[in-house]
Amino acid sequence: MKVTVFGVGYVGLVQAAVLADFGHDVVCVDVDSDKINDLKNGIIPIYEPGLTSIVERNYGEGRLGFTTDAAEGVRHAEIQFIAVGTPPDEDGAADLKYVLAVASTIATHMTSKKIIVDKSTVPVGTADKVLSQVSEVLATRGEAIEHYVVSNPEFLKEGAAVNDCMRPDRIIIGTASEYVKAQMRELYAPCNRNHDRMIFMDVRSAELTKYAANCMLATKISFMNEISRLAEYLGADIENVRRGIGSDERIGYHFIYAGCGYGGSCFPKDVQALVHTANSINYDAQLLKSVEAVNYRQKEVLFDRISRYFAGDLSGKTIALWGLSFKPKTDDMREATSRVLMESLWEQGAKVRAYDPEAMEETQRIYGCREDLELVGTKESALQGADALVICTEWKAFWAPDFDQIKGTLRQPVIFDGRNLYDPQQVERHGLAYYGIGRGRSVSA
Ligand SMILES: NC(=O)c1ccc[n+]([C@@H]2O[C@H](COP(=O)([O-])OP(=O)(O)OC[C@H]3O[C@@H](n4cnc5c(N)ncnc54)[C@H](O)[C@@H]3O)[C@@H](O)[C@H]2O)c1
Repeated sequence: MKVTVFGVGYVGLVQAAVLADFGHDVVCVDVDSDKINDLKNGIIPIYEPGLTSIVERNYGEGRLGFTTDAAEGVRHAEIQFIAVGTPPDEDGAADLKYVLAVASTIATHMTSKKIIVDKSTVPVGTADKVLSQVSEVLATRGEAIEHYVVSNPEFLKEGAAVNDCMRPDRIIIGTASEYVKAQMRELYAPCNRNHDRMIFMDVRSAELTKYAANCMLATKISFMNEISRLAEYLGADIENVRRGIGSDERIGYHFIYAGCGYGGSCFPKDVQALVHTANSINYDAQLLKSVEAVNYRQKEVLFDRISRYFAGDLSGKTIALWGLSFKPKTDDMREATSRVLMESLWEQGAKVRAYDPEAMEETQRIYGCREDLELVGTKESALQGADALVICTEWKAFWAPDFDQIKGTLRQPVIFDGRNLYDPQQVERHGLAYYGIGRGRSVSA
């Protein structure tokens, strides 16, 4: 089938490459000409495991194309995906300006039937807005061309996006049209060979399903972070508690790790957006507001501890930081906890020596060159001349470090572990002080 995808970000590019890999004929359109030129030259603008090879292969074999020419993209296919960003606006609502701009573009250039598939995460009611945007533009053109708007939210995880798109847990399709259902079935047929993953529903339920999924996951994290704070005050170990509750199959082991807060481009903005949607219908979403508040507070935990450990005097201190991206296997720094920490440390006159396997270029792009930030090539060199080690992201490279070397290199033998990677007793046996999250001890020093 012929497909056009608007937006070559984390979602659009992966989706396009996977659809091309299934054998479809895909054209990607983006307004960012640098990204499009890079892609044509084999440079992939984001880090995502497995993505480079499928982009290269399908581009090389002519099933995947890149353009900034929207008219060409609209002409190419009946199925038009919208996969552009929906960042929060000033009051937390999802900003739909990019989505509606693409809707206008499609309506401006279309000369034949179109199925507009909304893959961006958008509030309930957006499909109606896209539909009226398209109708308005068609009306000004004096044209009446058959078109449909369908909600097909994306559930991929950054760091595992290619696999998630190839083998999705479910494919949600929000539409009332039998024709659209049949087209979507054909498009996604390669995903359904093992078993049917398609779930059809009305468009509003599909839009809400995406927010419900992300808010549920964010809730699990904030819940565990709340319990971890209690564990600290009560002298319990959150890791024992985690194992204890995970064994209950109604709870399960997935996604119940305490840590230094969630970040990324989705959870923070999606929780905020659903709170905003609730406000707009005068519903007080108390649970969601608390999920957000707990996370906000949790992102300050590392700085708080470090500051207390050094008796509030961080001026002239150097902090070694392992992990900058909001989670492992991505270079995405959006809403990363490392940013909250670094900015607080800098405000107090401390320096940061940081290492991350993939996110250093992005960090440099965000913060530029500054004297109080040094990005170094290995995790070991981050320790040189540092007063303490902090772990912000649970990259595999940090799972089993040489604790004797850490002890021998740091000026002060202390680790602040924002991801509970280590066993406190094991670390302490190496002569290092250890502060995890909810491990039965808060810094009172
Ligand atoms: N990143 C994730 O893990 C993830 C997962 C599921 C859903 N989502 C949702 O998918 C959507 C896209 O997220 P993302 O992370 O891929 O965003 P992104 O910021 O990485 O990419 C968006 C792309 O859209 C392009 N764009 C903007 N306006 C355009 C226009 N008018 N025409 C063509 N291209 C245009 C931008 O240049 C950019 O390349 C969001 O709604 C997000 O919430 C993201």
